[in-house]
Amino acid sequence: VQFVRTYLVVLERFALMIADVAFPFAAERSSTAALPRVGDGVMLLDASQRVEYASPNAVSALHRAGVQANAVGMRLAAIGFDDHPVRLAFESAAPATEEIEQVPEVIVLVRCLPLLRGGKVSGGVVLVRDISELRRRDRMLLSKDATIREIHHRVKSNLQTISSLLRLQARRLESAEAKAAVEESVRRIRTIALVHETLSRDVGDDIDFNDILLPLAAMVEEGLQSPDRPVRLRLSGDAGRLSANVATPLAVVLTELLQNAVDHAFVDGRPGTISVDMANDGSTLAMTVSDDGVGLPDGFRIEEATGLGLSIVRTLVTTELLGTIEMARADPGTVVSLRMLIPDSYG
Ligand SMILES: Nc1ncnc2c1ncn2[C@@H]1O[C@H](COP(=O)(O)OP(=O)(O)OP(=O)(O)O)[C@@H](O)[C@H]1O
Ligand SMILES: [Mg+2]
Repeated sequence: VQFVRTYLVVLERFALMIADVAFPFAAERSSTAALPRVGDGVMLLDASQRVEYASPNAVSALHRAGVQANAVGMRLAAIGFDDHPVRLAFESAAPATEEIEQVPEVIVLVRCLPLLRGGKVSGGVVLVRDISELRRRDRMLLSKDATIREIHHRVKSNLQTISSLLRLQARRLESAEAKAAVEESVRRIRTIALVHETLSRDVGDDIDFNDILLPLAAMVEEGLQSPDRPVRLRLSGDAGRLSANVATPLAVVLTELLQNAVDHAFVDGRPGTISVDMANDGSTLAMTVSDDGVGLPDGFRIEEATGLGLSIVRTLVTTELLGTIEMARADPGTVVSLRMLIPDSYG
């Protein structure tokens, strides 16, 4: 009964305002965004801004905003609720709307409509709505880029975890061959992690390949660091910005080629240089990895190479990069050349 009476009172006062042409409020006839909804909590305030009535939905919205005290008979500020929109509405005799976040992640939309009588504010209706979920979704939409970055970041972290576990496992292995095989896997996983790390820093899905190349080169050089291995790594050219779809397999291919040079070209401890050259003319990407080591074995053909490294390279070049790769003896050493067309549309 009390509900009905309260609503009737409010309705009557709005009716008087409509008769006075004071309602709807001039400023907001076109705005629909902040229109009241059926589920809104409603509070009725008297002329001194004290709560005369609070609907169950209003009480629960206040609870979610961290206000536990009974609102009836109190000013909102006195029970710990930010009453800025109410003061604003009472002072300006016009409606005021604000989003209030008193408890982290809990956002309450507060809308105060002043009730006017003879041009004076005689009370107010406060509509409250919990819009936390709505705002959370907005925020997620706004930060799609951030979300993608976060995913890459997680993929990178997971890969690093896997590679650490493998490294621990390699340490326990007795067989040198098994140890080497697991360490190879560690290196391959680290390369992919490196790409995801780069992607997690860059917005969008294309990346400056140098951001991968330099840390990758540092990683290879780390493996070269020993006095009995005077091998140098030299980089030239620039691959520019590449789509992640291209950069990821390309980084893996490059790692395999560098590793092969490290593993096979300087077997006898001879000194030497490994060179990487990249060129991007906007439509074609060319990459050359050369070394001045011992050279390929006699009768070597990349198409027939059965090692895992070159199998990975062949597969990625033909199925992911849609390019071609050639390996040839140089004098001295080996030259590997990769060419591919750059896809027009990234994504
Ligand atoms: N830069 C190079 N100089 C000399 N020989 C090379 C070079 N790159 C590759 N090879 C030869 O090609 C072979 C096949 O290489 P591939 O990467 O497929 O296998 P792997 O390096 O032996 O093993 P994995 O890469 O699986 O650890 C090598 O064993 C080596 O004989
Ligand atoms: Mg290899």
